[in-house]
Amino acid sequence: MTAEAASMAPEAPSSVAFSNPQALTDDLYRDSPLSIRPLTTHMGVEVIGAGQVKGTPEWLRRTLNFLWMEHGVLLFRDLDFNEADQVAFSRMFGEQEVHGRLELNSREHPELLYLTNRKDLGLPEIATQSNELDWHSDQTYLPRPALGSFLYAVEVPPSGGNTYWADMRTAYDRLPEETKARIDGTIAIHDYDKVNKSYGGAANDFQKSRTSLCERHPLVRTHPLTLRRTLYLAPRMMTRIEGMDEAESETLFTQLEAAATADDLVYRHNWRAGDAVLWDNARVMHRRDAFSADTIRFMRRTTIRPPVEISVPF
Ligand SMILES: [Fe+2]
Repeated sequence: MTAEAASMAPEAPSSVAFSNPQALTDDLYRDSPLSIRPLTTHMGVEVIGAGQVKGTPEWLRRTLNFLWMEHGVLLFRDLDFNEADQVAFSRMFGEQEVHGRLELNSREHPELLYLTNRKDLGLPEIATQSNELDWHSDQTYLPRPALGSFLYAVEVPPSGGNTYWADMRTAYDRLPEETKARIDGTIAIHDYDKVNKSYGGAANDFQKSRTSLCERHPLVRTHPLTLRRTLYLAPRMMTRIEGMDEAESETLFTQLEAAATADDLVYRHNWRAGDAVLWDNARVMHRRDAFSADTIRFMRRTTIRPPVEISVPF
């Protein structure tokens, strides 16, 4: 082949042979290796088969990113992830963030945040609680909150410790028009101190150096990737709405939380070891049940940043 002919020849993908379309020994699928099962009517699917795919090929990345944006919550079961596997899988969804609570991160893979009551890992006491965690969306105390959280269960207690997700997008769609008119364009104050007071923690120096940990965000936001309107709630982090006093704000928060946590908008997950859930913090909020302090719950989380240009909630 001349050099000119070679430069015009289609480039063959490295791992897939297209030269013989009838071959049965290539890497092409004749049936989809993935399937989905709805978790609720409005939000969330279980993705079946992703754990059997080798590596993180482009087709898998594109499919899972589409499903994540379409459904808000993706459940994967029977994964067998070490720390490196989890980080590699999570990278399919965007840039990984090293969580500001540096003292809770894995030493080897700082992108991993340990959430566990195990006492043998040298973690500070704030990390090792087994109490209930109330409704929130992750990192709303930051100017550019995470888009994704990917939580993997290493060890789970025999009972308790369930996690719940609530669909704030459908909740917004369902609000009466007069409520939408009242809240569209309003700004909520999210203050990390409020949650720390509830749970007995304090921001570390790194966190304090990075942000004020008190942020203004729209109460109704436009999702940066789907462009759908959605409530943006973190009731235990929000102190008030600008232009409203605390009592009036609290009444409104309670009303919106009730709308977002209607039975048919919530998915409750009873964890098994090897489960992982990826969620969209710009669409769902989550909470956790308490569990017995005599049992062990060991979870690892990665945190996924949105593209930087669209990372400030609007
Ligand atoms: Fe959280």
